[in-house]
This record gives sequence, structure tokens and C-alpha cells, in this order.
Amino acid sequence: MDPTDRTRPEDPANSVMKIVCVAGARPNYMKIKPVMDALEGRGADVVLVHTGQHYDDAMNDVFFRDLGIRPPDRFLGVGSGSHAEQTGRVMTAFEPLLDEVAPDAVVVVGDINSTLACALVTAKAGPLLAHVEAGLRSRDWTMPEEINRVATDRVSDYLLASSPDAAGNLRAEGYRDDQIHLVGNVMIDTLLSNLERARRSDVLARHGLRPKQYGLVTLHRPANVDDPAVLGGLLKALGEIAADCPLLLPVHPRAAGRLAELGVPDGIHLVPPAGYLDFIALQDAARVVLTDSGGVQEETTALGVPCVTLRDNTERPITVEQGTNVLAGRDPDRIVDTTARVLAAPPAPRRPALWDGRAAERIADVLLAGGTAAGRPRPTDQPVRTG
Ligand code: UD1
Ligand code: UDP
Repeated sequence: MDPTDRTRPEDPANSVMKIVCVAGARPNYMKIKPVMDALEGRGADVVLVHTGQHYDDAMNDVFFRDLGIRPPDRFLGVGSGSHAEQTGRVMTAFEPLLDEVAPDAVVVVGDINSTLACALVTAKAGPLLAHVEAGLRSRDWTMPEEINRVATDRVSDYLLASSPDAAGNLRAEGYRDDQIHLVGNVMIDTLLSNLERARRSDVLARHGLRPKQYGLVTLHRPANVDDPAVLGGLLKALGEIAADCPLLLPVHPRAAGRLAELGVPDGIHLVPPAGYLDFIALQDAARVVLTDSGGVQEETTALGVPCVTLRDNTERPITVEQGTNVLAGRDPDRIVDTTARVLAAPPAPRRPALWDGRAAERIADVLLAGGTAAGRPRPTDQPVRTG
């Protein structure tokens, strides 16, 4: 076979599909792992590409160890930078790789810069593009992830949605029904398959915590941590909450410098970012979680742990409508009042449909049944509505 010939046999049953799976930063690893396993379990040839957007042991390596992800087949080593630098570096490194590997399909997850960069390169290079977590919308255009989500969906062939609201957003934007697949939440696949191991962690003892007697905090959204005035307001609110409920805050590197400059009120205990199993154990045993993370809103919903989200909006409304999540915004008084209400009357837990541990299996079914790009309608064949 001519190695430069990128066409594939027409009948997918006669060929092994080669699929590139992309990961680059902390919230990607727990999403890509079950997808890789499901694809490989069905005989696909999976090539794991790591862009290197996150690189510290605590933001990266620990997840490979905790989740048993094999070392990446390809590492792009892009590191940190401005949005344009980081996105551009991923694109520049991914383009020749894609040409060399010549996969049938590329799977990207989530909404980080690496997601968008690999999506744009794939769309122009020709393999089919699958976006896991398609259709999530905060409708907040100041959020870099919202731009990444909308643009990634626009060039994707397969839009793999984790919840009915996400599928509804895609339909409302004009995507074709044959592109939209409501498959469930891969993050919850990984949570459920690791929960028993996480519960054996000694992390509470290491931090001197007792189950249901502490709150867990994460902060890393630029809108919350980049401006010292905003971060100072959040710390004031957290200080008031900590007077009744001690708080543990594993510090994201984006926030580390400013937290050190501002100092934190008594009752807030700063620790390095936690590994996956430790962090799941910390969420599971928390009395309340206060966060601006996307993934943590979902995990607390699945665990039935009260979650106060320190944002004005969420791209994951199902965690509010069905789960344990309450939006508190960024006003300090409102955060304190909302948290007091949640502690007095915790929201009733209800796990959304298809957050059942089998989302990646459904994704593999969709991708492997779809076959190759030959003759398929592509994203351009659709009347996308904007605004
Ligand atoms: C990125 C994602 C965000 C995601 C978050 C998960 C984008 C636009 N943002 O935000 O959607 O929620 O990851 O955690 O893609 N740094 C380190 N060590 C690391 C990685 C980063 O010190 O291993 C520091 C660097 O100073 C870097 C800063 O953190 O400049 C921000 O990293 P970056 O990947 O640009 O964005 P995040 O804020 O981590
Ligand atoms: N997480 C972790 N250690 C931490 C904070 C978060 O393992 O100290 C995990 C968390 O359980 C979830 C994922 O990281 O699985 C969420 O990533 P993050 O909050 O960085 O990004 P987002 O979901 O907001 O994009």
C-alpha cells in the first residue's frame, strides 16, 4: 500500500480504525482515559497525543499514575503562554504529526486551548473529528473556554453530548441530527470506576480532616483569580464561611502567586493541587464544595455532595436543575448567604440520566459504527444559526 495514500478501505468492518486521542491539561485526563479504553477494547488502534499544556507533576503526572493511563505515544511539549502562543504552538506541532499518523478520526475532549487547536488542524487535514462534551454553553463570551467550545463544535463531525441541555443547544444552533449523539458523561465513567479506590485514600488523615466537617475549595477561573480585587472579595467570603466550617484549598498554579500576595484568612488551609484519587476522596467526604471548576460541579452532583459555584453562570445547568449545585456568583455577601442556606438544607441528590459509567462505551459504538470520512456529509453541510 502506498504510504502516502490516506484513503481507507470503504467497509469499516474490514479495517482497524486508527484514532488519535488528544489530552493536554488536568481536566482532560479523566475524560480521555475511558474513551481510549472503550476504543481499544473494540480493537481500534489508538494513538495518545499529549500537547503538554499542563506539565507539573501535580497537574499532570499524578493523573497518569492514579488513572493508569499509559505514557503518551506523542508529546508536543507546548507548555504555558498567551492564548495565541499556546494555541499556535499546539497547531504547529499537531499538523505534521497528523499528516504522519494519518488517522481515520481524532477525538478531542472538553474546552481548553489544546482542544480547539487540535480541532482546527484536524478539520483542515481531513480526518473525522469527534468532540466529547459538545454543546455545553455558558453564554459568557468573556470566558475563553466558551470560545473554544463554540469553535470546536463548529468544525466537528461527531458532537458527543453529555446531557440533554447540551444536545438541545446544538439542535438550536442548527447542527444536523445525525451529528448529535447524547452519550452521557465520561467524567462520571472515571469517577465511578475509581470511587472505591479513592475511598481508601488516607488524604483526610494527612490533612487532619474529619468526614463531613470541612469544606473543599477550588479556584482557577481567570475571572476569579487574575484580578486581586475579585480574589480578595472571594477570600473575604471564604474567611467568613471558614469561621464555622474549616476550608481546605488545593491551590491551582494559576492562583498560587496571587493567593501568596494577598494572604488567606484564618480557617483556610492552602495545600498543593491534589492528585485525582485524593481529590475525589476529599470531595466525597466534604460537607460542602465551593468551586469555579466545571468538572467539580459534575463530580459533586454524581457524589450527591452540596456544591456552591463561585460563578454567575454555568455551562452545566443540569448540575443545578437535577444535581446538588447552586450558583452563588462572586459577590461576597451572596456567597456567604448561599453557603449558609446550602449547609442548613443541602440540595437533594439526583444523578442525571446517562451519567452511569457507560458513556465511553456509547462513544466507541458511535465512532466505530461511523467508519471513515469517505462520502460522509461534513460540518459544512449544515445551516448553523448564530446569536
Ligand atoms: C486551563 C484551561 C481551563 C481549565 C484549566 C484546568 C485554557 C484556556 N484554559 O487553564 O479551561 O479549566 O486549564 O486546570 O485552556 N501552570 C503551571 N504548571 C502547569 C500548568 C500551568 O505552573 O503544569 C501555570 C503557568 O503559570 C500558566 C498558568 O498556570 O501560565 C495557566 O495555565 P494555562 O494552561 O494557560 O491555563 P489554566 O489557567 O491552567
Ligand atoms: N482535580 C484534582 N485535584 C485538584 C483539583 C481538581 O484532581 O486539586 C480534578 C477534579 O476532581 C476534576 C478535574 O480535576 O476531575 C477538574 O479539573 P479543573 O477544575 O482543573 O478544570 P475544569 O473542570 O474547570 O476545566
